[in-house]
Order: sequence, then structure tokens, then C-alpha cells
Amino acid sequence: MPPTDGKRTALVTGANSGLGKAIATALAAEGTRVGLVVRDRERGATALAEIRAATGNDDLHLFIADLSDQSAIRAVAESVQQQFAQLHLLINNAGTAFAERRLSPQGIESALATNHLGPFLLTNLLVDLLKASAPARIVNVGTRINTAMDFDDLNWERRPYGMMKGYGQSKLGNLHFTFELARRLQGNGVTVNCVFPGVFKSNLGGTDGAQGAFLKLFARLFGWAIPSPEQAARRVLYLADAPELADVSGQYFGNRKLIPAPAQALDPEANRRLWQISEALTAPSQTAG
Ligand SMILES: NC(=O)c1ccc[n+]([C@@H]2O[C@H](COP(=O)([O-])OP(=O)(O)OC[C@H]3O[C@@H](n4cnc5c(N)ncnc54)[C@H](OP(=O)(O)O)[C@@H]3O)[C@@H](O)[C@H]2O)c1
Repeated sequence: MPPTDGKRTALVTGANSGLGKAIATALAAEGTRVGLVVRDRERGATALAEIRAATGNDDLHLFIADLSDQSAIRAVAESVQQQFAQLHLLINNAGTAFAERRLSPQGIESALATNHLGPFLLTNLLVDLLKASAPARIVNVGTRINTAMDFDDLNWERRPYGMMKGYGQSKLGNLHFTFELARRLQGNGVTVNCVFPGVFKSNLGGTDGAQGAFLKLFARLFGWAIPSPEQAARRVLYLADAPELADVSGQYFGNRKLIPAPAQALDPEANRRLWQISEALTAPSQTAG
């Protein structure tokens, strides 16, 4: 591990495009040391070079991991701990959606694996570094598209799969995770909050193009200017930077204001239950709290 230099250090997942790249760029412009977690080395290197050119910040670091693959997450957490003496900010931003049910290398439905278990495992592997760097903040990027968790069939073995249903269930996991993690981190100097960044233009849904097509139709019908990732990033950066949020944890924010979470995610029993299932599905050597 390198010696501590006291410099603010952040890790942003999905930092090569859309919201993650906008967040990483804004943090780099503030002079923060930024780790970019990406799954494709080439796309990551291109993004890093662009962020460096735009901000003049040379303290940018690339970490490669497919966040649907638990062995890749373990390896990247190890690299982060070797390269960063401290970590003050973790932004779990990477997210994706699938038109059809697919399985991760560990046999888990891929949206659940990437959008919920990915941040769950990465955060738990880095939580000691965050605690040792306190005050530190974790920001989870959620969405308003939430489908109730079926705890008896999280892996979609008995229910028909659909892109929005799979995405919505996995992203509700971000809220369950935020609330339970906040409870476990009380008194450790590490806060965790979830943010809905609004609807904005991005590559979400990938080659299916579902998000893009939907947004274009919406914009045409209502003459609406689709917000940019840079606009959406301001909501996320508020949670990362605002001094008045130094002690605020376990909350769900929209545009700088608290917003209501779906009832299921407000049930502490449900939050504990998903935590236990997630622990069993990832079997990290230790989890927070
Ligand atoms: N766009 C919206 O309107 C909207 C609304 C609400 C919430 N959100 C949330 O905002 C976040 C960012 O999404 P975005 O809209 O900016 O989409 P995006 O442009 O597609 O960015 C998603 C990022 O996540 C990465 N990613 C996807 N699967 C991954 C995996 N298995 N391993 C590692 N990285 C992976 C992508 O990498 P690649 O480039 O390699 O695919 C990309 O860097 C997501 O959590 C999403 O749920 C978006």
C-alpha cells in the first residue's frame, strides 16, 4: 500500500461512459484522485485520456473489472487496496439492463449480479479501507424503476423475465442495500446514501437501445429536452460533496432533496433478509458491521 498523502481519493464504477464518466470528470476537475472502474480496458483508457485532457488531472487510475463476475470484483478490490492508501468516496454507479434472462459466471441472473451484488460485494471488500479513511462517503446510484423483490425467486427461475422487471428488481436492491448498510455503519464515520439521478441521455440498455428509443419518443411527444449525464451528475456530486450531508446516512435523494423509497425497501426485515441472501450469494470473507 502506498503511503497516505491525505489527498481526497474516489472510486467511480462504470466511469467510461454516461453518468459515471461525467461524475469522474467533475471529481477530477476538483483535483480529486480518481479510480475509474471499467470492464473494457480500451474504453476505459480512452475515457481516462479524455478526462485527463479535459481537467489536467494526472492522478487518474484505471481498474478493470466486469462487475457481474465476483472473481473480477475480488481482484479489483485487491488492486484498489494495493494502489490507494485511502478511499474517501465510493460511487457505485455502473448499471445495466438485459432484454433476456442471462446468467453471470456464478450462475446469477446478470442484472441482479451486476446492479445489486456487484456493488454489495465491492463495497464490503472496500469497507475497511473506507472506515480507515473516515470521514468517507458511499453513494449508490438508484432509479425510480423498482420492481418488488421476490425473495424466493431472486434468480428468475420460476417467473417470466422481462428487461424492466429484471432491471427494476436489481435496482430496488440498491435501496435495500443502502438502508441496511447505513444501519451497520453507524458510528464508523462512513455514510451511505442512494440517489435517483433523474432520467438522462445515456447508453443504458446497450445495443437493445431501449432507453434511447423510449427517451426519443418521449422527447418528441412532449417537446422535452433530454437532460445530459453532466446535469444528472450534479445530483450525485451533491451527495458526495455537500458539507451539510457530512452526517447524513441511509437516505434516498432526488435532486438535492429527500424522496420517498418504495415501501418494501423501508422494511428493516426485508433489508436484513436481502443482506443475508446477498452474503450467501457472494460469500465475502467479511461484511460491514
Ligand atoms: N440513464 C438514465 O436515465 C438513468 C435513470 C436512472 C438511473 N440510472 C442509473 O445510472 C447509472 C449509470 O447508467 P447510465 O445511464 O450512465 O448508463 P451507461 O451510459 O450505459 O453507463 C453504464 C456504465 O456501467 C458500466 N457497466 C455496465 N455493466 C457493467 C459490468 N458488468 N461491469 C462493469 N461495468 C459495467 C458500463 O460499461 P460499458 O460502457 O462497458 O457498457 C458503463 O460504463 C446506472 O446505475 C443506472 O441504473 C440511469
